Amino acid sequence: MRDYKIEAIVNICEMAELSESDRELVEAAKQATDSSYAPYSKFHVGAAVRLSDGSIVLGANQENAAFPSGLCAERTALFAANAQYPNLPVVALAIAARKGRCFLDKPIPPCGACRQVISGVEDRFGQSIRILLYGTNGVLVSEGIGPLLPLRFVDDNMR
Ligand code: THU
Repeated sequence: MRDYKIEAIVNICEMAELSESDRELVEAAKQATDSSYAPYSKFHVGAAVRLSDGSIVLGANQENAAFPSGLCAERTALFAANAQYPNLPVVALAIAARKGRCFLDKPIPPCGACRQVISGVEDRFGQSIRILLYGTNGVLVSEGIGPLLPLRFVDDNMR
C-alpha cells in the first residue's frame, strides 16, 4: 500500500482583492438570492455565471413540496446558461447564500451534485471555471473545480 497525496489550494480573499469583474459577479450572485424560491428551507441561494463573452446568467434555488424535485442555485444558473448559450464557455461562477436577511459569514460550499455538474461544464468546454464562494468574512476562490472535487468522475473514466 502507498499513500496517494491529494493537494487542494484555494484562496480566501477580501472583496476588495477581487478583480472588478469578479466583484461584479459576486454582487450579482448576492442579488440573485432575491429570486430564490425557498419556502421550505428558508435558505436563499444565488448563483451568477460569467460567460466567455462577458455576459452574466443568474440562478437561484427553486424548491418544491416534493423535496427532490427542486434544484440548487448553481445548477439552475449553469443549466440556464448552457441552454441559452450552448456555445459560450463558462469562465466563472459566484455563489452567495443568506438565511433571512443575513448572508453567511463563511463561504457557501456547493453541494456534491453541483460540484459534479460544475465539473461536467468544465469538461464540456475544456476549460476550468473560477469559483467564487461568498461569505461576509471572505470570498473563497478556487481556480477550477479540482480543489473542491478531487478524484472526480469525468467522461474520460468511461473510455
Ligand atoms: N442549496 C443550493 O441552492 N445550493 C447549494 O450549494 C446548497 C443548497 C439549496 C437547496 C435547497 O433549496 C436549500 O439550499 C437547502 O438545502
